[in-house]
Amino acid sequence: MESKEVAILCDSVINSKPMGEKQLSNFIAAVAAREVELSAAESWLKAVHKYGISSHDTITLTNEMMNSGSILSWNEQSHLVVDKHSTGGVGDKMSLMLAPALAACGLKVPMLAGRGLGHTGGTIDKLESIPGFNCNLTPEQMQNIVQNIGCCIAAQNDAIAPADGLLYAIRDVTQTIDSIPLITASIISKKAAEGLHSLILDVKCGTAAFMKTKQDATELAESMVAVARGLGIKCQAQITAMDNPIGSHIGNSLEVIESVEILRGNGHIDTRNLVVMQGSALLLMANVVENINDGEVMIERVLDDGSALKKFEEMCIHQGVTSEIANRLCQEPLSVLPISNNKIEIIALQSGYVNSIDSMALANIARSHGAGRFNIEDIIIPDVGFIIKKHIGEEIEIGQCWMEFYFSHAPNDDEIMQLSQSITISEHISENQSRLIAVVE
Ligand code: URA
Repeated sequence: MESKEVAILCDSVINSKPMGEKQLSNFIAAVAAREVELSAAESWLKAVHKYGISSHDTITLTNEMMNSGSILSWNEQSHLVVDKHSTGGVGDKMSLMLAPALAACGLKVPMLAGRGLGHTGGTIDKLESIPGFNCNLTPEQMQNIVQNIGCCIAAQNDAIAPADGLLYAIRDVTQTIDSIPLITASIISKKAAEGLHSLILDVKCGTAAFMKTKQDATELAESMVAVARGLGIKCQAQITAMDNPIGSHIGNSLEVIESVEILRGNGHIDTRNLVVMQGSALLLMANVVENINDGEVMIERVLDDGSALKKFEEMCIHQGVTSEIANRLCQEPLSVLPISNNKIEIIALQSGYVNSIDSMALANIARSHGAGRFNIEDIIIPDVGFIIKKHIGEEIEIGQCWMEFYFSHAPNDDEIMQLSQSITISEHISENQSRLIAVVE
């Protein structure tokens, strides 16, 4: 595509005029075919980032990005096909449990997931801590696995929404990531290409989320819900608090261990509640249950009776893990994912009740010890992370351990001080606050 044609699109954006469906469609096709000058694509992204675009143009953009690659199709099963997307949090391991739990309830979950972004962990990095787990699936492989067992979790790749691959890479280096229409089109185009009937969006909000305020989270949620609906997908967003870490484990293999515990009917209630909340909403949206209460009961049942765990084991085997390892992972996760011996205990400096834990401080330290990346080529160290021993609202005594830090190189004094200060302990027990802040539909 000629750069002067892209310049016309840029002018429309700058002057708040519609871009024109045909012109936008040609541009996205050229991006997907890598037939556009990088500098022209960069100018267009900068214009959209700076001036924004209408919701009509956002829907057209998303639709064209979805159509730039393969689209999964499900024929008579299409009403059962669901997924969720989270904007990313600390200790956010929901997908690992949600996909098999929903499959155990009879739904189909062809989940595409990402690697860690910034301080937040990524589902793919977590799954790749399981020996043999293969996230590089073709659209055909995804379709076959889901048809066989009901769920799979695959890494985003260039077969699906390839226009996003290039646009995302340019956004990453041109400081144009934080644009609501661009985030919306990027996320929803990939989800729509899964051939979804229903989608739940977990829009994180708080000190350790990309959206710090309820207003920003609501704006993003409204944009994504409107565009998903514009593409014919049933969609609801749950805005949830992301100040305190989710559940008990943070870090790649550590989060797999916690997820297996939840799938065994155990684990921390905070994590279980989120799985139940997201899962029941999808069961209702897919008309598998008549009301949210029945959805909650159904998800709780598959977590407690072993059927969600069985689906997780099947998913591991279908994605390359040997049956022997998959079975041991489900029965005795520590025999497959041992926890590092390099550990220090972080202790309370006063007595009282746990009031808050600063997720952002924990995430930054875990990332600088190898739990996350700073550059695309950085190698993840799977067993770096934290196990939280004392949770919000629990009583704690001075000198008691409230968190264990698992590391590969010893933390320095400054890091230990930051970790010690990342908890706030108050004299009075704080009100138990729900993670759910608002629902957008
Ligand atoms: N995740 C995506 O896939 N795209 C974005 O733009 C942001 C988060």
